[in-house]
Amino acid sequence: MTTQRTQVAIIGAGPAGLLLGQLLHQAGIDNVLLEQRTAEYVLGRIRAGVLEQTTVALLERVNAAARLHTEGLVHDGIELAFDQQLHRIDFRALTGRGVTVFGQTEVTRDLMTVRAASGRSTIYEAADVSVHDFDGDHPCVRYRVGDAAHELRCDFIAGCDGFHGITRASVPERSLRIYEQVFPGGWLGVLSHVPPCHAELVYAHHPRGFALCSQRSPTLSRYYIQVPAEEALSSWSDTSFWDELRRRLPPEVADRVTTGPSVEKSIAPLRSFVAEPLRFGRLLLAGDAGHIVPPTGAKGLNLAASDVEYLSHALNEHYAEGSDAALDAYSERCLQRVWRAERFSWWFTSVTHHSPEATEFGRRLQQAELSYLVRSRAASTSLAENYVGLPMDF
Ligand code: APR
Ligand code: PHB
Repeated sequence: MTTQRTQVAIIGAGPAGLLLGQLLHQAGIDNVLLEQRTAEYVLGRIRAGVLEQTTVALLERVNAAARLHTEGLVHDGIELAFDQQLHRIDFRALTGRGVTVFGQTEVTRDLMTVRAASGRSTIYEAADVSVHDFDGDHPCVRYRVGDAAHELRCDFIAGCDGFHGITRASVPERSLRIYEQVFPGGWLGVLSHVPPCHAELVYAHHPRGFALCSQRSPTLSRYYIQVPAEEALSSWSDTSFWDELRRRLPPEVADRVTTGPSVEKSIAPLRSFVAEPLRFGRLLLAGDAGHIVPPTGAKGLNLAASDVEYLSHALNEHYAEGSDAALDAYSERCLQRVWRAERFSWWFTSVTHHSPEATEFGRRLQQAELSYLVRSRAASTSLAENYVGLPMDF
């Protein structure tokens, strides 16, 4: 067994782990990234792609925003579609801010590039990763690469290993409070090399179920339709997908949908999940390791980014000023932002999706809420403010 030492051991090289690694690198804090998969595998995962301005600012800070600014699409609003009509929510007019549409895969690719340039240690295909003694003063991480066993001694462990990772799973159940709610249904998503059907994202409510028209570039589009949670992917051909999508869109949008072969097709659940607290001694959870939101509000990546901004700030204060005030406040600070995003994501999902459990009265209330949303400046401002995200509060 080889033994290595670092200040911060980061488990997971998704966007949370890679971004944290760069922020710590810039602060002169040594860190080692351990990822169980290959970099190609990590980049093969298709995820969402709507960035709040605070996330864009963070990517700029770690010099990973060049392509985002040349290839990303700045959107000043979204369209809500219901009763066969479009209703634009003008983020710029209502909040002064917009969002940037740039695929999470591309964000991860650019973070991997700056990580490689930093010279800091990143170990892919790290198997059997386990975390130890994080409730004491000398935490360590053990892992294997091939047949060789390794031990990484550190001051802190950052759990950026996603929902199915080992860090949260290593916390004793008695120390963890779990809050979970699953919306009845899933998102069947298709990625296709076709031009988008609309300049901005279209969130469509329809009696047959929700639909979303999103995009990655002028030639690459991402579409989603709500399906029953237990739906089999195999029961959806590309043709049946395009036909069902168009049925759920206002005619003026449906007529502009260019169809094509899917290059990626998958079903994602609509899960809301929060683990509390996010700190256990010298183990700190960030991103999907601590919380999941349904994709409707496009908050997943942005919450991962705000977590690691709080975490890098706290670790920098620990090493540079010898103060643990921000470390002690880390969990509470993140959870305030997390619950705000959980509330928005659940609400936006409930108001735009079809719930098999809803009563006729419930459906009428949903209709009333949608029409209030597009007629009330206060209501559309609240939607806009939550969608574009609130500035970081330190
Ligand atoms: N050992 C090492 N690495 C691990 C382990 C383990 N035991 N378990 C998981 N990992 C790695 C995964 O392979 C993955 O690359 O941790 C990484 C976690 O990355 P993500 O799941 O992308 O989570 P996060 O970085 O928090 O990003 C959150 O991803 O799912 C989206 O919507 C979500 O946009 C949000 C973002
Ligand atoms: C996406 O482009 O994949 C996307 C956009 C907005 C969402 C979810 C996913 O709310």
